[in-house]
Amino acid sequence: MKAVVYEQFGGAEKLRMADLPIPKPADNEVQIRIHYTSVNPVDWKIREGFLSGRLPYEFPLTPGWDAAGVVTAVGKNVKHLKEDDEVYAYCRKDTVHEGTYAEYICFDAEHVALKPKKCSFAEAAAMPLTALTSWQALFDIGQLKKGQICLIHAGAGGVGSFAIQLAKWAGAEVITTCSQENFDYVKKLGATLAIDYHKDDFSEVIKKKYPKGIDLVFEMIGGETMQKSARLLKKGGKIVGIVEKLDPDEAEKLGIESHYVFVRPNGEQLTEMAKLIDAKKIQSPFIEEMRLQDAASAQEKSKEGHTRGKIVLKVS
Ligand SMILES: NC(=O)c1ccc[n+]([C@@H]2O[C@H](COP(=O)([O-])OP(=O)(O)OC[C@H]3O[C@@H](n4cnc5c(N)ncnc54)[C@H](OP(=O)(O)O)[C@@H]3O)[C@@H](O)[C@H]2O)c1
Repeated sequence: MKAVVYEQFGGAEKLRMADLPIPKPADNEVQIRIHYTSVNPVDWKIREGFLSGRLPYEFPLTPGWDAAGVVTAVGKNVKHLKEDDEVYAYCRKDTVHEGTYAEYICFDAEHVALKPKKCSFAEAAAMPLTALTSWQALFDIGQLKKGQICLIHAGAGGVGSFAIQLAKWAGAEVITTCSQENFDYVKKLGATLAIDYHKDDFSEVIKKKYPKGIDLVFEMIGGETMQKSARLLKKGGKIVGIVEKLDPDEAEKLGIESHYVFVRPNGEQLTEMAKLIDAKKIQSPFIEEMRLQDAASAQEKSKEGHTRGKIVLKVS
């Protein structure tokens, strides 16, 4: 099968196309023929070696954790999926080695879900990692409730595009940060207030509009943005980081909760979100389509940090 690989950490020039054996499913796994994968910032972060101390890895390494495609073989213990099922999944394995920038992947069937019927494979590939991150941060950890006020940073990006929609669907009021050219995009997704982080100090705008404080911050920028965001919360409010965790001592002083989420595969949550897509409660984000062979330029583009929605790669 064709796949993208690299043998050393470094720049995007390390990525090359290779011919690898097609993997065979273990008893609990399905084999997926991947039609589309997507590019996430973590792909270039791993490639540049930033996560080498945190995630076990093995070269040659195929990047990518998102897949949308068709089941082509099932392990003998798999009951809920069969050949030809159209599926999507967040395929993160314990060791970073076999990724989804490839024609096939085998993955634990428990974490693979039927893709939304109303989505193309390209749209479905844009979902798993970002949608699961949003679900786990807002609901599993953030416990977001109807009527609460929630600040979601980077609303126009991959995670933000889902987080805004899910928070809105849950009945929360959503504030977001982005560039002005993305205002229409984030408002269509459900944001009540969009703040241009280039022009305005988001914390001043929010303090003025919500003097009693807000309930939840979903934080994906870190540094000063995290520090300022924490000070906008009411007592008992929560800040959920996915890039950094607010120092717990600092959180205690402010009377708030500090959490960090590292997204985990979850087939049940993907099934829930497929239902929401099919019921038109949420939609897939804006997508830019590129080819698998263009993985290097796609990762470079992702690294610039201004992706609207998601970049997806057509595999087969
Ligand atoms: N811990 C986890 O499990 C986990 C999971 C997923 C992602 N992450 C991390 O979370 C971060 C976001 O992921 P992503 O997939 O959403 O990235 P992304 O799609 O690359 O995000 C791009 C967006 O970020 C916005 N942006 C850049 N700087 C900003 C700032 N200072 N304030 C507000 N918005 C800003 C840009 O908006 P404009 O173009 O409008 O400027 C752009 O739309 C990444 O660092 C990623 O690695 C962690």
